[in-house]
Amino acid sequence: MITTLAVHGYRSLRDLAVPMAPVTLVTGANGSGKSSLYRAMRLLAGTATSGVVGSLAAEGGLDRVLWAGPERISGAMRRGEVAVQGSSSRSKPVSLMLGFATPELAYLIDIGLPIPSPTAFVRDPQIKREEIFAAPVLRPASRLVQRKNSTVTVFDDESRTVGSKLSARVSILSELSDPDGYPDIGWMRQVVSGWRFYDSFRTDSAAPARSSCVGTWTPVLADDGHDLAAAVQTVLESAWAGPFARAFEEAFPGSEVLIDAEGTDGRFHLQVRQPGMLRPLGADELSDGTLRFLLLATALLSPQPPSLLVLNEPETSLHPHVLPVLARLMTDVATRTQVMVVSHSDALIQPLLALGAEDAVTHHHLVKEVGETRLEGQGLLSTVPWEWGSR
Ligand SMILES: Nc1ncnc2c1ncn2[C@@H]1O[C@H](COP(=O)(O)OP(=O)(O)OP(=O)(O)O)[C@@H](O)[C@H]1O
Ligand SMILES: [Mg+2]
Repeated sequence: MITTLAVHGYRSLRDLAVPMAPVTLVTGANGSGKSSLYRAMRLLAGTATSGVVGSLAAEGGLDRVLWAGPERISGAMRRGEVAVQGSSSRSKPVSLMLGFATPELAYLIDIGLPIPSPTAFVRDPQIKREEIFAAPVLRPASRLVQRKNSTVTVFDDESRTVGSKLSARVSILSELSDPDGYPDIGWMRQVVSGWRFYDSFRTDSAAPARSSCVGTWTPVLADDGHDLAAAVQTVLESAWAGPFARAFEEAFPGSEVLIDAEGTDGRFHLQVRQPGMLRPLGADELSDGTLRFLLLATALLSPQPPSLLVLNEPETSLHPHVLPVLARLMTDVATRTQVMVVSHSDALIQPLLALGAEDAVTHHHLVKEVGETRLEGQGLLSTVPWEWGSR
């Protein structure tokens, strides 16, 4: 389980450490930084597949995504007594840092500007530092693995340098994953590669989820939902068939999901039998909300559950009476999958808080203060411990 997520210098997330629970709900007004937090998490997940530098380049390079405000925000700036202004010189190098902690180990990555060089790939940021350490806080004594530029040092009985030619574009998690040689790196890589993300699903008339799909065993729903029919059939043939059918019947009383696999084309067709209809309706005929609910329930009840499931704005086009059913599914699966939900909807909060046992559900409301995203109600004493260290 992830206990802390930390971001430094990414868009409006100047310096944020977010405590995580089995179910973590993140809400906030428009522009408060919810999507940025979601994207920061996706970037972090890219470290396991060496996708982090490419994803940053795709966002327009480091310059575009770095915190655009002053390096330090003084008390007078916060109180509005003086205008927000930068200082003439920086005290620390420009860096975007991402990290997380589990109860055992923690990881952080520090990404900086490229050193000027005669290459066309000037947008590619560089990985300057990575650390794996005993949770929760980075200290010299808790350090297990450190990467500085191209050199990787493992601190076990004696410290040893295990690599000195690492490319600035790849992470130690993607490059040094030999579980026997580097158990801590292998363990971390496995944690990160177990995360699954679903951004708001498309439900328009041309949405991929509305078409039939190849009828193959599909324990993991694709992130665009194009294999929904096969993924639903996989759930219906798993131990989660009962909870799936019950949740759907509760959200849409009298309705039942069927998969038509009879055709000679080998494709599966999703159908829903609804009260009052003489024939079942196809996926192309379903309402946006019905389709979205099916996509979310299928993602949540995956027979091959991820360690962490992150849902971005799942509530779009769902009626408020369906949200408690969704909330119940989230708390039901939270024993096997940690769930993080980034949402606009305050209507999700009440059912989640009512259902979750104490400590099982955390709600963070993001607010902007002098351009910076903060957790509402988090004072100096209630912040989670986190240290970035230095290059
Ligand atoms: N480089 C940057 N430095 C500082 N702030 C930035 C930077 N880039 C974008 N922002 C700000 O970050 C804020 C957060 O945007 P984000 O898309 O995360 O908001 P959101 O909470 O998802 O909003 P919505 O509910 O509208 O989707 C925006 O207000 C934007 O002005
Ligand atoms: Mg957003």
